[in-house]
Amino acid sequence: MFTRAIAAAASLLVASASANSKRGLVFTPNSTFPDDAYIWTAPPTDLTWYYNYKPLPSQIYSNVSQSDFEFVPMLWGAPSDISDKSFYNTIKTLIDERGVNVTHILTFNEPDGPGQYGGSDIDPEVAAQVWVNNIVPLQEDYKALRVGLPACTGAPAGMEWSKKFLEACSGLISEGEKTKNCTFDFVPIHWYGNFEGLASHMGEYSAAFPNKSMWVTEYNLANANLQETQAFYTTSAEYLDRLDFVERYSLFGAFRSDVSNVGPNAAMLNRDGELTDIGAWYLGRQATGVDPNSGKGGKDSGAVRMPTPRLVTLLLVSLLGLVNFA
Ligand SMILES: *[C@@H]1O[C@H](CO)[C@@H](O)[C@H](O)[C@H]1NC(C)=O
Ligand SMILES: *[C@@H]1O[C@H](CO)[C@@H](O)[C@H](O)[C@H]1NC(C)=O
Ligand SMILES: *[C@@H]1O[C@H](CO)[C@@H](O)[C@H](O)[C@H]1NC(C)=O
Ligand SMILES: *[C@@H]1O[C@H](CO)[C@@H](O)[C@H](O)[C@H]1NC(C)=O
Ligand SMILES: *[C@@H]1O[C@H](CO)[C@@H](O)[C@H](O)[C@H]1NC(C)=O
Repeated sequence: MFTRAIAAAASLLVASASANSKRGLVFTPNSTFPDDAYIWTAPPTDLTWYYNYKPLPSQIYSNVSQSDFEFVPMLWGAPSDISDKSFYNTIKTLIDERGVNVTHILTFNEPDGPGQYGGSDIDPEVAAQVWVNNIVPLQEDYKALRVGLPACTGAPAGMEWSKKFLEACSGLISEGEKTKNCTFDFVPIHWYGNFEGLASHMGEYSAAFPNKSMWVTEYNLANANLQETQAFYTTSAEYLDRLDFVERYSLFGAFRSDVSNVGPNAAMLNRDGELTDIGAWYLGRQATGVDPNSGKGGKDSGAVRMPTPRLVTLLLVSLLGLVNFA
């Protein structure tokens, strides 16, 4: 009964979902199952944007247009040479030479977190210098470009890191008595925990950064049972869709349950690459009834495939001159 009520509530969300959906993909491909990538872009899908923790778009989405599925580049961490400007140069090439309409930039993935959990583990002072070398000139060159503050972990240390970062950044660009601040357009946050925790974390960030919109770029209820995970999904999706200051969000994630590092029930695919209820709801579709823990594993993608061989499609696309990827 409970699950059915959630499914019914979720189909209402489906009905109201639009092409202006806030939903995006945190793209974490597994090279064993490359075709899983097409699950997220096959119609009907509510996903309007993606990021892959990198500055360049993923090759596998080279036949999907930027206006349908916006790639958002990320400056993930600090280069080994602090004076390096390769992120700036890469984005400039992407825009000016490859003609990709880059409108948003994400910066520093979990800089307050250790590398063993995927954090980029950077001193705020170092991150500030990297920002001044790479982000500030991008903001000068492309006035309409919207940039996100570094995306800290959900831990209390994250807020402290952000404040130190902004202070250091300001110190680097201020001249004499005249204080200047590094500018940003939206605040990305991460959250792994229950719904009340998510709401309170969001409250803390919106109080610290008033008048800024928010992107929730990684979130889920990790390692919980299926009923709790689905209830979290439905409640949080309704909340994030409803709040005007939430501009975008991306659930973590879009992978098979047997390789999930947030527990199998939080995964959008089962072991065979078939959409779970949460996976289907996230795309704006009806529940599939697929148990996240089902499947043998190792089977090829459950994605609907075109009868046309991929080579032919690629050839056609190249002939049309649409492929221009490094
Ligand atoms: C990719 O999938 C295979 C098969 O399930 C798994 O063994 C491997 O660990 C996965 N790789 C990553 C990076 O998750
Ligand atoms: C780039 O994308 C933005 C936002 O979607 C849009 O307003 C703008 O017209 C686009 N520019 C070009 C050149 O397509
Ligand atoms: C810079 O940011 C600090 C801290 O948020 C603030 O107090 C100050 O007014 C800002 N200065 C300018 C010039 O915007
Ligand atoms: C937030 O926006 C309101 C209304 O535009 C304005 O009055 C207020 O000063 C802004 N607050 C900050 C901290 O920028
Ligand atoms: C891109 O190519 C894949 C693989 O051939 C195909 O499944 C998908 O429909 C294509 N997407 C578009 C938008 O043409």
